[in-house]
Amino acid sequence: MEIIVKDTVDEASAIVAEILLRQVEEKPDCALGLPTGATPLGVYARLIEDFRNGCGCYNRAHAFNLDEYLGIPGTDTASYAFYMRENLFRHIDFMQRNIHIPDGSAADASAEATRYETQIAARGGIDLMFLGLGRNAHIGFNEPGSPHDTRTRRVALTASTMEANARYFAPGSRQPTHAITMGIGTILESRRIVVLATGIEKASAVAASLAGPITDAVPGSALARHAHTTIVLDRDAAHELDRILALEIDA
Ligand code: PGA
Repeated sequence: MEIIVKDTVDEASAIVAEILLRQVEEKPDCALGLPTGATPLGVYARLIEDFRNGCGCYNRAHAFNLDEYLGIPGTDTASYAFYMRENLFRHIDFMQRNIHIPDGSAADASAEATRYETQIAARGGIDLMFLGLGRNAHIGFNEPGSPHDTRTRRVALTASTMEANARYFAPGSRQPTHAITMGIGTILESRRIVVLATGIEKASAVAASLAGPITDAVPGSALARHAHTTIVLDRDAAHELDRILALEIDA
């Protein structure tokens, strides 16, 4: 596992954007796994800026979203389909038919999860999976306790995840309690994984994931099972890890 620590969120985001850009350059028809949330915004902003400057071509690449809320349609402004469209897809040249997101309004969530796994397999698996890390060390919506061999499925969100994401919902609107997420097993089958975690509120999740035992209680600890994972942190997110490991700071 490679761990890169940068001084700032911007610098950390630039590293991840560079890894994604290199992936599409090396394999234009690659399959990318993409997350939502606050963490990836700086990465997506950079990819958009690069694209406007002539760098990066995504018109043969496939995008597979890591997760989606259940019970809201992709047109809802709180959906991850909406987030991806606004923060990335409408600014660059992904083909609509190559954008894959679980359908949060599917009547049969487990059939939708199976369909999604089949779609990933049909593309030959994910080449590069980009992930954030939850404050509770979740990856995707694989909450603590998720076995490391799970597949894409319907999951219940924990109170801490709902609280962390409450800011994305208008006061009085109904916040989803369930989601469809790629499983940890699905994520671990990706050829390469890059994780971005920034901010002091991620420091203990980072330390538990990277310096603690591999356990279902800490979904991020599953990353140690993967042969080609790059973890990119800012100094705040590395704060507790720093004290545990003798890190060579690449700043
Ligand atoms: P965040 O979420 O980027 O909004 O902090 C990360 C995650 O929950 O995986």
